[in-house]
Amino acid sequence: MAGPVEPDGPAQPDGPAQPDRQVEPDSTARPGGPVEPIVETRDLHKSFGENQILKGIDFAVNPGEVVSVIGASGSGKSTFLRCVNLLEWPTSGQVLYHGRDVLARGYKVTNYRTKLGMVFQQFNLFNNLNVLDNCVIGQVNSLGRAKSEARERALGYLGKVGMERYVEAKPRQLSGGQKQRVAIARALSMEPEALLFDEPTSALDPEMVGEVLSVMGELAQSGLTMVIVTHEMAFARDVSDRIAFMDGGVIAEEGPPAQLFGAPEKERTKEFLARFHAG
Ligand SMILES: Nc1ncnc2c1ncn2[C@@H]1O[C@H](COP(=O)(O)OP(=O)(O)OP(=O)(O)O)[C@@H](O)[C@H]1O
Ligand SMILES: [Mg+2]
Repeated sequence: MAGPVEPDGPAQPDGPAQPDRQVEPDSTARPGGPVEPIVETRDLHKSFGENQILKGIDFAVNPGEVVSVIGASGSGKSTFLRCVNLLEWPTSGQVLYHGRDVLARGYKVTNYRTKLGMVFQQFNLFNNLNVLDNCVIGQVNSLGRAKSEARERALGYLGKVGMERYVEAKPRQLSGGQKQRVAIARALSMEPEALLFDEPTSALDPEMVGEVLSVMGELAQSGLTMVIVTHEMAFARDVSDRIAFMDGGVIAEEGPPAQLFGAPEKERTKEFLARFHAG
């Protein structure tokens, strides 16, 4: 059976299931040991034709960290996330997963792709599948899990986001906030090591933003590793360990929320935040 295709990306390679390579997510850094980033980018570049979008991004996310990425529209935030999880292939630079460059020739990217979950602005649910099957199909097709086990896990994560009563519903029967909570449960069902969010609340009616941010806040509290592109500054300040400000295809400044929001060092960070507060 040909599975549905992610509407917002290239078809996932239908590689063989690799259950033997699965590891339980280890979201706790060993006390006293060196902290090794889950994912790191070095001098990451991405161009579309002549148009250089990412101009050398050095970034890392450690186990259990919550990092928010902020920046003006067009600064390259989505492109960056999509290069990290290889929905876009970077033009140059490195993407290291536990220290190994996934861009290197011969590296098996199928396994890597299952390790990073993604939540999109437009949900990207499979409209022909009900809520439960949306959360089951990736587990079966990409991880090789038995359907019964996949269902059980999906139900657990749907419960976590408060959507267990909607398992039979089709996406069109749900509100935007409910769809996004299902999309989060779907991503969690894959038990990724880190979850990437690309403006998860930007497409929502204002009254639904809170329910999605509240789920995300709980996930952050639970120790999940998260990279969140967002314009929700108050949320970013409250849940993040670190904020990265992107401008013109580079990370112009990064630091703990109190520092970046309270005492930004770079002129362009100050300008962005001032514009944001004014707007
Ligand atoms: N597939 C593509 N082909 C050509 N240009 C692209 C493609 N994807 C993104 N771009 C360009 O890259 C630039 C950065 O886009 P990107 O979507 O990464 O910005 P962003 O920071 O996520 O903005 P926003 O806050 O509006 O989502 C834009 O000028 C965009 O037109
Ligand atoms: Mg974007």
